[in-house]
Amino acid sequence: MKIVSVVGARPNFMKVAPLCRALKAYPDVEHVLVHTGQHYDVRMSERFFEELDIPLPDINLGIGSGTHAEQVGRTMIAFEKVVRDVRPDWVVVLGDVNATIACSITAKKEHVRCAHVEAGLRSGDMDMPEEINRIVTDRLCDLLLTPDRLSSANLRREGVVEDRIRFVGNIMIDTLERERGKAAALDIADIVRGNMIDGCAAKAGSLPTLADGGYAAMTMHRPSNVDSREVLAPLIEFILGEVAAEMPVVWAMHPRAKKQLEAFGLWERVASNPGMLLVDPLGYHAMLRLNMGARVMLTDSGGLQEECCVLGTPCLTMRWNTERPVTLMEHGGASELVGNDVGRLGEAYRRAMSAARKPTRPELWDGHAADRIAEAIVRRGEGR
Ligand code: UD1
Repeated sequence: MKIVSVVGARPNFMKVAPLCRALKAYPDVEHVLVHTGQHYDVRMSERFFEELDIPLPDINLGIGSGTHAEQVGRTMIAFEKVVRDVRPDWVVVLGDVNATIACSITAKKEHVRCAHVEAGLRSGDMDMPEEINRIVTDRLCDLLLTPDRLSSANLRREGVVEDRIRFVGNIMIDTLERERGKAAALDIADIVRGNMIDGCAAKAGSLPTLADGGYAAMTMHRPSNVDSREVLAPLIEFILGEVAAEMPVVWAMHPRAKKQLEAFGLWERVASNPGMLLVDPLGYHAMLRLNMGARVMLTDSGGLQEECCVLGTPCLTMRWNTERPVTLMEHGGASELVGNDVGRLGEAYRRAMSAARKPTRPELWDGHAADRIAEAIVRRGEGR
């Protein structure tokens, strides 16, 4: 049986690593790994292959940056050739990035069966490009592998027949469980010193103390937060005035966020604040270590909400909705939705500062999701 799996952007890499390993247990499976090349920096892509022992992609489509239509269109044109050439029995797509939608459409038009890992997530927010990617991908795929029961229920509500849905658990947590030992051995100050961005004031002086429980960790890159000055500027004022004034803030800076801060004339203000420790996008182990020791996480990332849930880090999710409600406090998780309203963010921040770490593990977030995924695909492929 031939299986092609597709990765494109950073959040795909930690999901494909355990899948590559799990498929090796099937000697009759020939696994071809395709990278669309949406993320292409060493820091956004290459290093994850080394760190997580992912085999080098068999094929790289070299798509690069562009508008959504450019990325999706170029990926479809290039991936069609791959599908015609390789003639796989299955295409496996992961998550909700542009590679996910582009390659599921292409596979189905070439009459190849398609499986979606992380199916059924819904934020209900059609302004999010990822939501469009999720809905279209799930509508097309033959096998919908869900990380939690809420996601399976979303699919049923949309009329998906039971036979297409498999609740398998969260594959991101397979990677977290395998790698947490390596992460724990890292030193926070070394991570920050080794990755600090040029121009960050703290780079010239001595670092503030970075003890476990004594700093905030932050990531922010979603268009809804960084693409408008009216939204971004007050968020920055809050982070500088309230959080960085109280403890160091380690911000792992996505290229999109840096570009937008510069475009809005906010970069200097952030970089010159001695409490703001701006670092380049971090590797997997470094980011996990940062999360393990953070007093609080401020983020708009999807994957970090899940990792905070299992690690118990109080997580202020700077979004109005989430496709991962199982990570929210009302479901026993560590995350609270705070949107981008500074008043709400401030209240939740104060609550988080007095909250204790509370690790929780949703059902089947047990480190073995990839085995269930590989089995589901192979069995379905054999018609069982
Ligand atoms: C993509 C995903 C998003 C995910 C995020 C994580 C989609 C629709 N979105 O968004 O779900 O949370 O990745 O990182 O697929 N850039 C670089 N170097 C790179 C990659 C990008 O400098 O290696 C720059 C690009 O030039 C662009 C910006 O970063 O200006 C954004 O990249 P893009 O691929 O459009 O999407 P992300 O915002 O990263």
